Amino acid sequence: MNKDRINSILKNMSLEDKARQLTQINADFVKSDVKADATGTSDDLKLTHGDIYGAGSVLNFGGADDALAVRQKYISQSQNKIPLVMMQDVIHGYRTIYPIPLAVGCSFDLQLAEDCAYIAAVEAKYNGVDVTFSPMVDLARDARWGRVMESTGEDHYLNGEFGKAFIRGYHRGGIGCCVKHFAGYGAAEAGRDYNTTDISERSLKEYYLYAYRECLKEQPELVMTSFNLLNGVPVNADSRLLLDILRGEMGFDGVVVSDYGAVNEMIMHGYAADKRECARTAANNEIDLEMMSSTYVHNLPGLVKSGEVSEEKINKMTERMLALKEKLGLFDNPLNATDEQKAAEADGCAAHRGVARRAAEKSCVLLKNNGVLPLNTSVNAAYIGPFAEEKSILGAWACAGRADEAVSIAEGVEKLLCRKPVVVKGCGRGLFDSDDSGFDGAVKAAAGADVIVACIGEYAHFSGESASRADIRVPGVQIKLLKRLKELNKPLVSVVFGGRPLVLTDVEKLSDAVLYVWQPGSEGGSAIANLIYGRANPSGKLVASFPRSVGQCPVYYNHFRTGRPKGQDTLEGTVYTSGYIDELNAPLYPFGYGLSYSRFEYSGFGLSSGVMRRGDKITARVTVENKSGTDGEEVVQLYICDKFASAVRPVKELKAFKKIYIPAGGKVLAEFEITEDTLAFYTANGSYEAESGDFDIMAGGDSVNVLTERLKLI
Ligand code: BGC
Repeated sequence: MNKDRINSILKNMSLEDKARQLTQINADFVKSDVKADATGTSDDLKLTHGDIYGAGSVLNFGGADDALAVRQKYISQSQNKIPLVMMQDVIHGYRTIYPIPLAVGCSFDLQLAEDCAYIAAVEAKYNGVDVTFSPMVDLARDARWGRVMESTGEDHYLNGEFGKAFIRGYHRGGIGCCVKHFAGYGAAEAGRDYNTTDISERSLKEYYLYAYRECLKEQPELVMTSFNLLNGVPVNADSRLLLDILRGEMGFDGVVVSDYGAVNEMIMHGYAADKRECARTAANNEIDLEMMSSTYVHNLPGLVKSGEVSEEKINKMTERMLALKEKLGLFDNPLNATDEQKAAEADGCAAHRGVARRAAEKSCVLLKNNGVLPLNTSVNAAYIGPFAEEKSILGAWACAGRADEAVSIAEGVEKLLCRKPVVVKGCGRGLFDSDDSGFDGAVKAAAGADVIVACIGEYAHFSGESASRADIRVPGVQIKLLKRLKELNKPLVSVVFGGRPLVLTDVEKLSDAVLYVWQPGSEGGSAIANLIYGRANPSGKLVASFPRSVGQCPVYYNHFRTGRPKGQDTLEGTVYTSGYIDELNAPLYPFGYGLSYSRFEYSGFGLSSGVMRRGDKITARVTVENKSGTDGEEVVQLYICDKFASAVRPVKELKAFKKIYIPAGGKVLAEFEITEDTLAFYTANGSYEAESGDFDIMAGGDSVNVLTERLKLI
């Protein structure tokens, strides 16, 4: 870090320069000299030429040549020649799109997640991206929320592990990254995007902030604040969260960026009366970079002059922005060597497509199989449904990914079989489709086949930002089509696309096998074909519980007990117990669940000692045997439950996992170490420690079917 350079630049900056340096605008402002924003945020962003060519950062641009043109134009027009830092949402790939993060989580494969982020970073870097707005580590327990697709699910420990893996990949690929959205955004009430969150102190500390704390260990360059109101205060106004916790307790000294227009949204929240108050609040909370609103450029100089924001604070914030540029090498290379040739070579190259395919194979989850899968290649299968030929399978936030470059199921199957399969669409995939005029043709084609593969689900853009749903069943007339297909009495396989856990209660009943493929990305069709025909063996496990009906939401595995417990799998005993009179408590498919073509058996679970003294290390061992003739991978999961505690503990908490390859007929011994830290939590008096007493230690292939041993901490 060249501190002298930063100091000498800072010395020559006026207050106006600094306010601009702390502002991030859309690249269009630079490209087309627009003076006002047309992107629909709450702020009209009236900017002068000086504001635009003094802005510290731009976001959202289109590739190597575009980035270079923006940088060149900016530098030629800018007065102080401080290079721009260019940021982009590279969420699950740049041009080569791998599965959505929720799917990557289901791989339970951290190295794979790192490799995915690495290929994204390599492509992004050649295309002019300095920093990606990823990873998103919001804890997401409500399937209605559209942004569950960007998270790695309902477990904070997994979110932390995957967040760190993604950061390692971005850094290895040579770009900076931004952990988001700090904090609590995933708890949006009723799953409605941008909605209010209300999170207890305990829950925030233990669950919602956990993954951020973990991610900071890998030194991400930025943290993004969230849009939401948290316990009555907009996050961007929450000094306890932003100063005491993030800067203080967590020790983060990188750049904090607001979310898009969110500083200005404090007015809409009913917190700040005007833009001046927004700027004062955000700056005093050390939001270093204001994304897509202009309260800083218009108000910070005045606020410093009036003494409402100290100049020292503005200097500290500007210094962080300059330090970011220094770290990314931008002062020495202000045009940042974007290289069209290299971009063209890297974008979608065979090696990257290979990683994307492997990721898709490992993240699809086999939810049901009565033996119909895998199909023999000689079987005459008809591929029916709106997703059989669909190429829009990249998912939301697909960056520079192109649907025309994605492999559809039909294309993947054709490549594998060396012949065109029977394919009929049958119906549309719209939310409100009612047109069933294609059913007869679909049924006729299916009648001539030995096996029907129904390709159904949720379209790529029915999840993501601002795409929350109140009805999370497979949309439109697709279930009606499935019912018609079922009447043919032939083996029926459902391949289901989704950007969230969908309610699959009908699909489960109607199908002999269900393969959940999420939004699988550029190589989706190849991966699905490999899984259907057994060239790859499913190994994905759910990182989010699948509700039976939307009324169960939020449903998640690590819930608390109640004083009036009710069985998970029964409607009996409903009176005066905690349940529903019309629905079970158990989700349709639990966290950690997923089938394989192999059959794994767990046995011999034991602890090196049933008693643990403080400071001891206990080993938990379990034997997992592959009782089938098919090689496979199994995710062995370790859970704990603290039986009685000063602040009660969840029924289960995932503490470790291992994804292990076990050849046909083979056997492995999986070992996990348990220390005091494994058993620790925030106790009633706020300390983080393990309390003496009894613990259940559980091991298994999902969160329900576990072997249990008792451990006593003394
Ligand atoms: C999203 C962020 C994203 C930003 C920039 C916002 O609307 O909430 O996640 O990084 O836009 O595109």
